[in-house]
Amino acid sequence: DSSSAGNFIGMGHMMGADRATVLDESGQEMTALRVPELAVPDSESDSEITYTVTAQAGETAFLEGKTTQTLGYNGSYLGPVLVVNEGQEVHIKTENQLSEATSFHWHGLKVPSDIDGGPHHPVGPNETMQVDFTVNQEAATLWFHPHALRTTAEQVYAGLAGLIFVEDDNSDQLNLPKDYGVNDFPLIVQDRSFDADNQFDYAGTYDPDGTYGDTLLVNGTINPYVEVKNELVRLRLVNGSNARNYTFGLENGAVFHQIASDGGFLEQPVALKSVTLTPGERAEIIVDLSSYGKGDTVKLMDGDATVLALNVTEETDAQMALPETLNAIPEMTTQGAAVQQFTLSGMSFMVNINGNQFDMDRIDTEQSLNETVIWEVHNAQDMMGSMVHPFHIHGVQFQVLSRDGAEPPQNEQGWKDTIAVYPGETVRLAVTFPEKGVFMYHCHILEHEDNGMMGQVSVQ
Ligand code: C2O
Ligand code: CU
Ligand code: CU
Repeated sequence: DSSSAGNFIGMGHMMGADRATVLDESGQEMTALRVPELAVPDSESDSEITYTVTAQAGETAFLEGKTTQTLGYNGSYLGPVLVVNEGQEVHIKTENQLSEATSFHWHGLKVPSDIDGGPHHPVGPNETMQVDFTVNQEAATLWFHPHALRTTAEQVYAGLAGLIFVEDDNSDQLNLPKDYGVNDFPLIVQDRSFDADNQFDYAGTYDPDGTYGDTLLVNGTINPYVEVKNELVRLRLVNGSNARNYTFGLENGAVFHQIASDGGFLEQPVALKSVTLTPGERAEIIVDLSSYGKGDTVKLMDGDATVLALNVTEETDAQMALPETLNAIPEMTTQGAAVQQFTLSGMSFMVNINGNQFDMDRIDTEQSLNETVIWEVHNAQDMMGSMVHPFHIHGVQFQVLSRDGAEPPQNEQGWKDTIAVYPGETVRLAVTFPEKGVFMYHCHILEHEDNGMMGQVSVQ
């Protein structure tokens, strides 16, 4: 049989998939999860690492029959994982082999704005741009994606997104599952629609308030499974969708633990039955499979939809205990800090921040280098309707001070770069920029970003 696992072509950066046919209880064929390859550095020493990242067009087989035209980094869809260490000097040669301009934005990295890859730094077709920085932040699962003016949504939808794993002494020492592709899996969760010709139907399903798809893809895999031992399994959840929110939970309602938020480990594992991620947000979770045996399946769900089947195919006696302490997170001092207000309002092509739509030539607010300012982000209820806006700031990891005056939930008491702001809600953030320049802040519903729900802060 020609399962979609077997004829998946052009996925140069993906680890080989199992060809065996696996069916779920309803008899539906499942596909081995594609696991993005760890990028092979061009050169590496303890203090320096060099990568090449090429945006390119290709074809990807998602469905039976015709392949889908897609974009990817160093491959046809998505990209490889760039692993970097705290303190390391990183050199990335970015290359654009597309027929249109793109940019290379490092979402969650604390880097100067001239290499942050925002709309001011497009890379034209057949152009390259050199990106050099020193990793100045703790271990975290970050990601990268295009951010050129008004084309972010379409380019991400077509497949441009990759992961960055920052490692540090703490992540090296922590006793956590870290056997990549064995008990440590990144899950880039996206939704896509296909037309009758098996092509992505972005134009046909476009919605200015966020384009949704009817098919769930995890790392570019439809209906995926992984084969695991009955041990602790680490899932690095990344909401890589243009607009869809996910509420992840286990099929049986069992408890799992969240160990990391966008920008690093939480202080302690947080026991949860579900975690909601809006576009751009990440969460690392640990699922404990020790009470299961060979032949059992545990499903990661989004509501009623299966995201991933964890098939236990081997039993082990070597069980790991989750560390009680994961991190020490210094509380940011906001005593006497200035307060800046950001009001998100409007719908579709009218979305705005403080009444303004994005203008590259306008600086919306200023902040001093290393100064902590309280950003008060308000989602205005609208007569036309209201939506959750995932509010993202470039160049920082911030702390959530409050949600409508109340302490944020435990799993939001860590470093964040994107925060869901619900209709009518006011969220207070402590924001310090460690680098100078002009940084974007915006709604991470990518169509909202492209339609102007974005502003610029100048840091001097
Ligand atoms: Cu992930 Cu400005 O974006
Ligand atoms: Cu970003
Ligand atoms: Cu929005």
